[in-house]
Amino acid sequence: MSSRLLVVENVSRSFVSAAETVHAVREVNLTARAGEFVCVTGASGSGKSTLVNLITGLDTADSGRILVEQADLGLLDERRRTRLRLDTIGVVFQDHNLIEEFTALENVALPLEARKLDPSEARKQLGRVGMADLAHRRPRNLSGGQRQRVGIARALVGGRRVLVADEPTGALDSRGSRELFELIRSLCDDGVLAIVCSHDPMCREVADTVYEMADGRLRSMVPA
Ligand SMILES: Nc1ncnc2c1ncn2[C@@H]1O[C@H](COP(=O)(O)OP(=O)(O)OP(=O)(O)O)[C@@H](O)[C@H]1O
Ligand SMILES: [Mg+2]
Repeated sequence: MSSRLLVVENVSRSFVSAAETVHAVREVNLTARAGEFVCVTGASGSGKSTLVNLITGLDTADSGRILVEQADLGLLDERRRTRLRLDTIGVVFQDHNLIEEFTALENVALPLEARKLDPSEARKQLGRVGMADLAHRRPRNLSGGQRQRVGIARALVGGRRVLVADEPTGALDSRGSRELFELIRSLCDDGVLAIVCSHDPMCREVADTVYEMADGRLRSMVPA
């Protein structure tokens, strides 16, 4: 089925040291389609960020497989795997990670230049997140919520259809959080798949699908 953008199958990841072994992610299964807002909740240390790192390719699973647009990442060579991720998945963290010396527009254009795509699309993406009028501002002259919007524009620029966000509202107040979740909701209504890890109950309210992580395991919950 073409709408299954992301499939996570029996994925596990442990961290082994001389002192202990931490089973951070245990046999996780998750299937998500274009247009879906997936919320992942769970206590601190339950494995959410580890799962995000596996989905975005910052880390590699010990076992199981991850399919993006039906392609098994484990079967692609390094170059193709990187390419598929770059073309498909954008990431947003709690801290915006924007480059301070660049304007909002330049920050969003950066991934386009890296992928040799037309940089004029950056302005369109800023419009999509309601930031067209502030495109010339540098990150320090934007509010926390505005910076996260720029981060989302940068994550989705160049036709990326999967947004992975790890505590994107961690530094925002409740109004800013609501506005950001509502923005992500509207992007999903426009066809984006969003996987959002969040402690915030508001995330459960806007999501289509809710999972809870506990001790590395992912289980389905009824949306709020
Ligand atoms: N690089 C690492 N080396 C060793 N242990 C790690 C590493 N990364 C994470 N862990 C451990 O794996 C478990 C899951 O951590 P993770 O960061 O995924 O949790 P989390 O759900 O994102 O927590 P939080 O809500 O606090 O962000 C924790 O016990 C953590 O200490
Ligand atoms: Mg985390």
